[in-house]
Amino acid sequence: MENSFALRGDICYSESLTTLSIHPNSYLVCVDGVSAGVHDSLPDEYKHLPVINYEGHLITPGLVDLHMHAPQFAFRGLGMDLELLEWLNTRTFPEEAKYADVTYARAAYTRLIDDLKNGPNTRLGVFATLHLPATLMLMEMLEESGLVSMVGKVNMDRNSPDNLCEASAQQSLADTRRWLGETADRFANTTPILTPRFIPSCSDELLRGIVELQKECNLPVQSHLSENQSEVDWVAELCPGTSCYGDAYRNFGLFGGEVPTIMAHCVWSGEKETALMAEGGVFVAHCPQSNMNLSSGIAPVRRFLNAGVRVGLGSDMAGGCHNSIFRAMSDAVQASKLRWRLVDSADKPLTVEEVFYLATIGGGSFFGKVGSFEPGYELDALVIDDRPLLPPFEAGIAERLARVTYLSDDRHIVRKFARGRQVK
Ligand code: GUN
Ligand code: FE
Repeated sequence: MENSFALRGDICYSESLTTLSIHPNSYLVCVDGVSAGVHDSLPDEYKHLPVINYEGHLITPGLVDLHMHAPQFAFRGLGMDLELLEWLNTRTFPEEAKYADVTYARAAYTRLIDDLKNGPNTRLGVFATLHLPATLMLMEMLEESGLVSMVGKVNMDRNSPDNLCEASAQQSLADTRRWLGETADRFANTTPILTPRFIPSCSDELLRGIVELQKECNLPVQSHLSENQSEVDWVAELCPGTSCYGDAYRNFGLFGGEVPTIMAHCVWSGEKETALMAEGGVFVAHCPQSNMNLSSGIAPVRRFLNAGVRVGLGSDMAGGCHNSIFRAMSDAVQASKLRWRLVDSADKPLTVEEVFYLATIGGGSFFGKVGSFEPGYELDALVIDDRPLLPPFEAGIAERLARVTYLSDDRHIVRKFARGRQVK
């Protein structure tokens, strides 16, 4: 019964995209790592469970970072005067090449894990590097942390520097097979996800091989899509005859449907690409801070939501400098306001309630029943001591959530649970 308990406090989770379910001074029951719902008073059947009393604290679902690059934590905040392709070539690829050295990788990943354990995120979609030993080590460290993650050994066999480029499609696929052999059933909370970096880095032969592996092992896939205008133009040259960047992935069989897929960014996705994402059930990882730092643009999130596209939030570490998805939530609201004011007045800005949904159920659905306290959801929870953030007037729970979204930092997260297990 290690993962069975009740938390008492001011509880809040998303009921729908636009509405919150609010429960002052209530009990959130966790049985074997799964929510047994929120109750005004503790039901008799749960009276035997230990009650952890956080009266006066805010309790929310854990947040989901649907897109981050573990090796890039090391250089966050640097190179922020560059756009995507220049930033990849001058900052990102040279840093990632260092992860051939497991001693360097261990030191860098230790700092990352420490940061992640302290913050509000409980679930992660992670890009590692192309290196096998460092990726295995990262997965071991994530498993040890108690966080729940999908981690990808990156595939890249073209248009990359010699020290960060797999020798051939065949070698990339052989390494990926070896990595899957070592990780597929090894961990409880850390599972592999196929990770072709993006179309410019992956030959046709490699993408075809990844699709074969996907079918054979029934694995999810993550990649990048329509982040930057020069990148979009480049993909149009590399994939003649495609109607859009997403269509290029789709032609390989890597765009949703039977294949659970995360595509990061989608800043420049037009109507056709948006329709393909909706049709295939592709998850968009919206990464507003990265999109600002790399001058990529403002993703049309309101249009995605209107079109029925599934959307979660991502840090895109180190395109974004901050791991916290609370920060991504406030950035997403702010970016949507600029889009509304400067780009299209038909796209109404996002609200705090909406970005809370994206940060919890929105991204969480990629992991299954995750991101809510409704009965049957895996129990990821944050206990937030927001007393230092309370205004001098009486504030309701919705207002407190807004204050936490804009003002909190890791110090306010006093406890964190993933799948009912304490992480912090
Ligand atoms: N596209 C391909 N690789 C990357 C990366 O590492 N970061 C971002 N933001 N975009 C990419
Ligand atoms: Fe990225």
